[in-house]
Formats: sequence, C-alpha cells, structure tokens
Amino acid sequence: MTDAHLAIIVLAAGQGTRMKSSLPKLLHPLAGQPIVSHVLATARALDAAHVITVVRHERDRLAALVAEDLPESIIVDQDEIPGTGRAVEQAVDALPTDFDGDVLIINGDVPLLDAATLATFIDAHRASAAAGTVLSAHPDDSTGYGRIVRSAAGDFDRIVEQKDADDTERAITEINAGVYLFGLAALRAQLAELTTENVQGEKYLTDVIGLLRRAGAEVTAVPVADAWLVAGINDRAQLSEAALTLNQRIVRGWQLSGVTIQDPATTWIDLKATLAPDVTILPGTQIQGATVVETGAIIGPDTTLRDCEVGENAVVKRTDATLAVIAAGASVGPFSYLRPGTLLGADGKIGAFVETKNATIGAGSKVPHLSYVGDAVVGEGSNIGAGTIFANYDGVAKHHSNIGSHVRTGSHNVFVAPITIGDGAYTGAGTVVRKNVPAGALAINVAPQRNMDCWVHANRPGTAADAAAADSLSTAESTSTTESTSTTESPSTTESPSTTESGE
Ligand code: UD1
Ligand code: CA
Repeated sequence: MTDAHLAIIVLAAGQGTRMKSSLPKLLHPLAGQPIVSHVLATARALDAAHVITVVRHERDRLAALVAEDLPESIIVDQDEIPGTGRAVEQAVDALPTDFDGDVLIINGDVPLLDAATLATFIDAHRASAAAGTVLSAHPDDSTGYGRIVRSAAGDFDRIVEQKDADDTERAITEINAGVYLFGLAALRAQLAELTTENVQGEKYLTDVIGLLRRAGAEVTAVPVADAWLVAGINDRAQLSEAALTLNQRIVRGWQLSGVTIQDPATTWIDLKATLAPDVTILPGTQIQGATVVETGAIIGPDTTLRDCEVGENAVVKRTDATLAVIAAGASVGPFSYLRPGTLLGADGKIGAFVETKNATIGAGSKVPHLSYVGDAVVGEGSNIGAGTIFANYDGVAKHHSNIGSHVRTGSHNVFVAPITIGDGAYTGAGTVVRKNVPAGALAINVAPQRNMDCWVHANRPGTAADAAAADSLSTAESTSTTESTSTTESPSTTESPSTTESGE
C-alpha cells in the first residue's frame, strides 16, 4: 500500500569522476543492470507517495533510464551548484506543496541496499522522536566515507567527510551509509543554511545533521546489520567488490532453491535470470540478462548465456549464446556460438564449432559439426552435413534458406541463399547448392574426379611420395596382373551422396 507520508529522493546527479570512465558511473552494470537501476527498484518497492530523482551529469541517459525503471518518479535537474545538499534542496522544492511527511534520501551509488532494510530503517525513525535519522555502518575499510562524529557522551553530533577530516576523525570506523530520513519541515529549514565552505566547495547534505544538532533537534544513527549492504560504488575496485558480494548472494539463493552450482567462485548469475530446481550449473558459467533455464538442464562448463531460454533437460556445454531459445532435450556444444534469433527445437542438436544466427532448427534436427547456419529455417528430423555453410550474404543483402524436414545434406555443402531444399531431399558431399532441390531429389554438382596416373613420378621424382607410390604400385602389380590400377574418369551410374549423419 502506498505510504502517503513518505517521499523518496534518489541522488543521481554526480559525475562519478573516480570511475575514470566515459560511461556515467551510475550506468555501469552490476549483476546485469545499471548500478542506479538497483536503487530505483528498491525505491519502487517502498511504494512512496512521491519519488524524485535528481540528475545532471549525462542527464538524458539517466532520465531515460529513470523513465523506464521508475516511471512514477519526478525528474529534477540539478543546477551548477555542486553537492548532495544542493541536489536535495532542489528535489525538496519539486515536492508537491500539499505533501507533509518524511523524506527518505538514498544515494544512487549504493546499489546493494534492499527494501526490507530500508523499511526497518523507516520504522526505527518513526518510532523515535528524532528529526533526522542516518543509516550507519562499520565496514572493514571506512576510507572514503563520511565519518560519524559522536560527542563524549556518545551522542551523534555531525558527519565529517573524508576530505575534510583530521587524523582523529579519519580513525573513526562508523560511517555514513548515504541513506537519511528527515521530517520535511526540519530538512527544509536546514537546507537553507548549507554553505560550500569545505574542501570540495560543495553543499554537503551531511552538514544538515550538524545543523540540526546545533538547532537543538535530536538526530540518531541506526546501524545496518551487514556493512556489505551499504557499500558505495565510487571506483571500479569497489564496483567489482560489490559485484562479487552480490553474486555470492545470488548464487547461494539459487542453491538454496534447488539448483546445483558446482563452483560458486566461477559462476556468475545476473539478478534477472531464473533457474528451475534441479538445474545443474558447471564451472565457468555466466547466466546473464533475463535468461530462463528449465528443470533438469545442465549448463556449462565454460558457457555464457545472455537472455536465452533453455528447456527441460537440455544440455549446453562450452557455448556462447545470445537471445537464443533451446528447447527441451536439445544439446548444444561444445564450442558453439548461438547468435540472436537461434531457435533449436526439442531434442535438436547444435554441435562442435557451429555458429548460428536467425536460424530456426526444427525438432530432432541436427547441425552436428563445423557449420554456419544463418537466416535459415530447417524443418524437423533433418541432418546438416559436417562443414556446411549457409551463404546468406551476397555482399549487399541477406537472403533466406529453407531446408525441409527429414533432409540429409552431404558434408561440406554451401547453400547459396535464397534457396529451398524440399522435404526428404539429399545432397551429395561437396555440393554447392545454387538451385532449389525438389522434395525427395538428390542434388549433386561436383565435377567428376580425374586421376592422372603416375603424375607424382613425372612431376616429383625422387621424393618420398614417389618412392612410396613406386613401392605400392610394384606390390599391386605382383599380386594382380590382370586388374588395371587405373580408375581414370570412369563415371559411376549409382552415385552415393555420402552424407555424414551423426550417429549420436
Ligand atoms: C557521500 C556522503 C558520505 C557517505 C557516502 C556513502 C556527502 C557529502 N557525502 O559521499 O558522507 O559516506 O556518500 O556512500 O553526501 N550526487 C548528486 N549531486 C551532486 C553530487 C552527488 O546527486 O552534486 C549524487 C551522486 O550521483 C551519488 C550520490 O549523490 O549517487 C553520492 O555522491 P558521491 O559523490 O559519490 O558522494 P561520496 O563522496 O561517496
Ligand atoms: Ca559515493
């Protein structure tokens, strides 16, 4: 139910200079989505009466993301006055005038914080008489964070930023997590008092705490149970640490829900992926995006799936796949590359060193070895011979190939698209299929083979090949004087297509 007395401000206007990146800090991915998307999702889950997101650096990209992830949010553009205090000041001005309640402020770069922790934090504030409450933590390393300075009696007095702190203050291990709750009136009054008189020349939101205390108001710090929840991301080292922590929790969560994950250290699962019970994930595997894996499937080792669907009992090993659908019982890999638009039917197979793109391969059909299948439909129960290329590109445009059901194509074929091969047709080994093949026909267009007898002796005399051939020919002559060893250009009347159907 919407909390009518709660407004949330998400701070997302900072530049993120410490990332040293052309990509805005808050758009760097973490478990498959931008850092700030985690924060927006948490804000959304709290169901506040109003949400305001403050943007400035790369504002259009941030605003577009907010519009997608948290469409109910008002977007406020921070002006040229820097600092979290200025961001909140402008956000508060954008609140509807009839709102009167609590304002929750969260940093856009604290992505691991969950809605349940924040709900407890809000309850703690409301149960107290404090004008403001700050979420605090005791991380292993407090470097970079604002420190919570307490009086001799232990009362929360103010927050000092790392850059403004003296040695004694820097030794403080209790830090400001970047999450605050204020009564609107108290917040508004103190924001007006902020100055930029500090090392960074910014209006610090954190100064509101000290100002409230000077004004005689009560301020409390509520410690978070686990410091990892409030890890702020300022640089790429912190990004990888947060990613590792989050991944450990995601992996453990799936293990507890019935997924076998052999090696958590080398398994990376994005937040939006879904795994059914009795899925097995082998080492070196990344399950990315909104990938869904059904029960009994075995993924890995060394496999990356991005936004894929994998059906029940399918097996996918040493494979890189994006936007592919692998139906139940199908088998993929090892060393397969499935590009967007690959649809492999039930019990089908995409085997070793096969690349597919925009390809529908029907139920029970197999592309077992060393092939490229692009812009194609293959029917059911067909077998594509080893080393086959679907030549889909004429240098200007892409063309489509249509292979029927129960087709057997020979090894080392080229299908020059646009092309259609009818149901039950065969093609011979080495065929370059340029014309449509009717159902049930055998297509073969390889030039008849010519053997030029004694070519080696005439052209490469004295070589090992010449000696070996001489030995072989003399043995053949002594065992058979009647049969000719020459088979030069004798066309066969019963051509064999020599397909390489996989026995598996
Ligand atoms: C801030 C806190 C610090 C706290 C830490 C927790 C202040 C002054 N300091 O420091 O006490 O320990 O977070 O992670 O608040 N932002 C704006 N507008 C700005 C500047 C920043 O919206 O003008 C946003 C940023 O996009 C970011 C958040 O505010 O999401 C925090 O800014 P950042 O510069 O990372 O602050 P810290 O130095 O980490
Ligand atoms: Ca920060």
